[in-house]
Amino acid sequence: MKIRTAITSMLKVDLPIIGAPMFLVSYPELVSAVSNAGGVGTMPALNYRTTDEFRRGLDEIRQKTSKPIGINIILHKEHNPRWMDQFQVCMQYKVELLITSLGSPRSIVKEAKSNGTKVFCDVTTLRHAEIVAKSGADAIIAVAQGAGGHAGAISPFALIPYLKSEIPNIPIVASGAISSGKQMAAAFALGADAVYVGTRLIATPEAHAYEEYKQMLIDSAPEEIMYSAKISGIPANWLKRSLDKLDPNFKSDVGLSVAAKSWKEVWSAGHGVAQIKSIEKAADIVHKIASEYFEVKKSLP
Ligand SMILES: Cc1cc2nc3c(=O)[nH]c(=O)nc-3n(C[C@H](O)[C@H](O)[C@H](O)COP(=O)(O)O)c2cc1C
Repeated sequence: MKIRTAITSMLKVDLPIIGAPMFLVSYPELVSAVSNAGGVGTMPALNYRTTDEFRRGLDEIRQKTSKPIGINIILHKEHNPRWMDQFQVCMQYKVELLITSLGSPRSIVKEAKSNGTKVFCDVTTLRHAEIVAKSGADAIIAVAQGAGGHAGAISPFALIPYLKSEIPNIPIVASGAISSGKQMAAAFALGADAVYVGTRLIATPEAHAYEEYKQMLIDSAPEEIMYSAKISGIPANWLKRSLDKLDPNFKSDVGLSVAAKSWKEVWSAGHGVAQIKSIEKAADIVHKIASEYFEVKKSLP
């Protein structure tokens, strides 16, 4: 199965499906499973406490797949003091895709490009998207309302066509509650060139997440996703059931009344929990999205 878009041509992959990087969740097993299925598997460099451990992670991925992969780096000294070392390791390993978050990718774009690495960057607003486009990045990732992790506040129905019309020349990856071919077709109709799949890939055997977390994704409804800036300091979506366990009186504008480690004890997920009914292999999810996409295209009125 192949679907040609600006992004698949750029990354030389069969499918415009990117497994989103997820802190403490995406590791070599999940990354390689998505890449081997024809998409692009990714993980955050921050999952590793030392640069040597990060190198070992990349070695493991390269053993498990020869396909393109991506690494997410937070380009912010305070949030990630080791970002320069992580970037240099990515250059040594000739990582095919770098996904930058928090901060402009301007300082790394030139070196990455001369090394054959593409640079994509998360954005939630037009202002940020313009900065990213000016920096010379290869694509923007439009993180819409309802996404898992640090999510935007704008509906994807408005955000994707808005960014497309204001900055027409840069490819867009749609992010937020995408886990099916129907949703991919909708994202493409809005102007996207690829989709980012996060939450859905946590409910897989390859994801590095507690079984209880995976089950909570199956059991939770989208009404139980809480958007709050008071857990990690940046607005993000969280599973209400994981918050309730720590603080049954949690209020999104106040925060937790007990000390808890976000991501480790408070679990993140997006509105896409609505479509999670079971734990499935990552490759099956990727293939299902692609085959359903072809079916949907035929069935549209
Ligand atoms: C548990 C979890 C951890 C995440 N960690 C990161 C991260 O470390 N870096 C990053 O750029 N995005 C992170 N994200 C955001 C995802 O990369 C992506 O934007 C989001 O999951 C897409 O929305 P979806 O979950 O609705 O598919 C995380 C998301 C989740 C659910």
